[in-house]
Parts: sequence; C-alpha cells; structure tokens
Amino acid sequence: MDVESLQKSGRRRGSCLDVFLVVSTMFLLMAVAALAAGGVMVVMELRSELETTRPSSDPGTSRLTGDTPDSAYKMQNFAYLEAVSSKLQNSTMELSQIKYGAGLSVGSNFQFEEGTHSLKAKQVGYYFIYINLNLTCTYQCNAGLLSVRLGDKLTCEVELPALADTTPVSRKCWTVSRLDGHKLFTQMTVPKEGLQNWRLELKTSGLGMFLVD
Ligand SMILES: *[C@@H]1O[C@H](CO)[C@@H](O)[C@H](O)[C@H]1NC(C)=O
Ligand SMILES: *[C@@H]1O[C@H](CO)[C@@H](O)[C@H](O)[C@H]1NC(C)=O
Repeated sequence: MDVESLQKSGRRRGSCLDVFLVVSTMFLLMAVAALAAGGVMVVMELRSELETTRPSSDPGTSRLTGDTPDSAYKMQNFAYLEAVSSKLQNSTMELSQIKYGAGLSVGSNFQFEEGTHSLKAKQVGYYFIYINLNLTCTYQCNAGLLSVRLGDKLTCEVELPALADTTPVSRKCWTVSRLDGHKLFTQMTVPKEGLQNWRLELKTSGLGMFLVD
C-alpha cells in the first residue's frame, strides 16, 4: 500500500475542506453585512419619510410656496401614537396622539379612539408599521420578556436583563403589512412574575404607521 500517496490525498481533501470553510464563512459574513446594510437603509428611508411628512411650522408661508398640498397629502396617511403610561402589565397598551407641527400625529386616513386606544387605517393597503420601545430600570430590576403586539400584524419583543442601573434598553420593530380597515389594538404582555421597577419611557416609546402603496 502506498502510504505516502494516501496521506497526500488526505491532505488534499483537508485543504479542499479548508477552502470550502473559508469560502462559506466569507459568504456568510457578506450575507450578514448585506442584511445589516438593508436594515440601515430601511431606517434611513423611514427617517427621511418622517422628515418629509413633518409639516411646516408656518402654514402661511408653505401655502405660498405651494408646499401644503403635498405635505398635507402625506400627513393624512401617517399616524404616530405615543405611550401614555409607563406601567408594564398584561393589558392594552395606552397610547395617545400627540401634537405634530401645526396638527396632530394621526392623519385623516386613520381613526384613533381615545377610550379604547384602538387605531384603524381607513384605506385598505400596505402599511409600514413600526413599534419603538424604550425601557429604563428604576431600581433593582428582574429579567424578563416584554412583548407588545399590534393585532396580528406586528409583535415586538424585548428581552430585559436583570439590571440595577438606569441604562435604557430599547428596541425598534417594523413590518410591512396589509391593513384591511379593521380596528387594531396594541396588547402588552409581561411574564407571570411581572416586570417590577421597569418603566416604559413615554417620549421614546410608541407606534407608528404610514401607507406605502
Ligand atoms: C400575562 O399573560 C401571559 C400570557 O397569557 C401569562 O403567561 C402571564 O402569566 C401573565 N402575566 C401576569 C402578570 O399575569
Ligand atoms: C431611551 O430613554 C432614555 C431616557 O429618557 C434616553 O436617554 C434614550 O435616548 C432613549 N433611547 C432611545 C433609543 O430612544
């Protein structure tokens, strides 16, 4: 038996495996980079969308420059609701529209009910929907999973660590989904032991959506 040639072919097979591993690792890294770039682009698009939908603070001049019809059109298809309670509990998430430029943060294409905190998009179509959650620990907080679900459209989960300082924990979730004119409720779910001493930061937690088609 030619031991040497056996070893040689074994070595060759080994180096083939090495090349395969290097190539697939590189491919994986590239895929991860591409995914990250995609995410950044979506966030940047969202940011520019938010900037262009922000109405001018002086409606008089914008009417003169012919700005209003466009921004009014965009504004009507945009809704943002801010959290109004810091409590984390099994319940409907309490939300409210806020002042936005000269108007309110819920456009005329939407119907928001203060009492039930429900939101309805009147126009059927595809919407970009996002949830921002920002939490801080006030004192010796336990770990646990916080989940915020908008109907069957979007679920945003935050794995809260056991924490004793006030480092905020934040999470942004988004999706594009078809809305068909039904009322949507935002349900919050906490673990059985609760999430004592965690609080939801109101100004930086909320729910938004805009028509994309
Ligand atoms: C909240 O609801 C979930 C799911 O129904 C349940 O597992 C959990 O124990 C509830 N939490 C509290 C604090 O009741
Ligand atoms: C979360 O809230 C804290 C405290 O208000 C704030 O400093 C931080 O910038 C917020 N983070 C995000 C991502 O909004």
